[in-house]
Amino acid sequence: MIKTIAVLTSGGDSPGMNAAIRSITRSSLSRGIKVYGIRDGFLGLINGDIFEMTRFDVSGIITRGGTKLGSARVPGFTARAVQDLALNNLKKFNIEGLIVIGGDGSYRGANALSKLGVKVVTVPGTIDNDIPGTEETIGFDTALNTAIEAIDKLRDTSTSHHRCSVVEVMGNRCGDLALYSGIATGAEIVITPETGYDYEWTIKRLKELDELRDQRHAIVVISEKLTDVEDLAQTISKKTTFSGRSTVLGYIQRGGSPTAKDRLLATRLGDYAVTTLLEGKDAHSVGIIDGKLVSLHLEDAFKLEKKIKQDLFDLQKRLV
Ligand code: F6P
Repeated sequence: MIKTIAVLTSGGDSPGMNAAIRSITRSSLSRGIKVYGIRDGFLGLINGDIFEMTRFDVSGIITRGGTKLGSARVPGFTARAVQDLALNNLKKFNIEGLIVIGGDGSYRGANALSKLGVKVVTVPGTIDNDIPGTEETIGFDTALNTAIEAIDKLRDTSTSHHRCSVVEVMGNRCGDLALYSGIATGAEIVITPETGYDYEWTIKRLKELDELRDQRHAIVVISEKLTDVEDLAQTISKKTTFSGRSTVLGYIQRGGSPTAKDRLLATRLGDYAVTTLLEGKDAHSVGIIDGKLVSLHLEDAFKLEKKIKQDLFDLQKRLV
């Protein structure tokens, strides 16, 4: 039976990571397991920035965005020599199980360690909602609500000025933040990696809307990394009667107090990650499907493809 575990948060932070750290810590302590926190993700693991946690170290953090443990991206972690430094530190602290909270890059780091014999369980923590093996990631709901609040405000001012607001949201290569926020705000156009960006179609569609007598505004929600949104806004000003304005929501989507949904998800997944380790299932990721907690071997999770949510894309278009 595992007696000592460690937890780290890695990659882009997400609201609810703290709730997951709290849950992992207290769930472990209540089962008689010693818990270490690792600062700044894999960086802290390489540098030995590791400390024992008590239940008081996680007091009051369930309400807070960000991650108490700190996070980092460590591209060099793919090198065997670097992984060996991590292994040495795990041995030094007698850490028998490791829980990694993060997104796809963090999952790859965890998988590399598991291939070297480390017992690892991963918890999906990212605002992008792009992790296979779970329907929702920790932080997605909070980021979605942040985006919705901002887009609602942009709609008010766009209506007053007969403007088209082009709003760029995050998501990396996953369009869920754009799709869900687009539907929830009644956006006229939603552009994501799944739909692809078609400049001609976008302008044509806006011209059609432009001709509707009572159309006072248009909202275009677009995923990051598809085009330069300021260029698009300027073209809209030139080619339609809307004046185009661009807004990049950026890192604001990563912060803030987690929603009830994210707190619950993080708390359930954190506790379940500890259970999964104790059941001896190493190299597993935990997730939620149809409201039920599930765990999946990391290699199987990597093979899963996220399904395109065609019904939601169709719904968005039907209601414009
Ligand atoms: O993965 C979360 C995320 O916020 C993505 O949506 C975004 O593409 C990326 O991280 C930004 O990364 P960084 O914090 O390294 O700039």
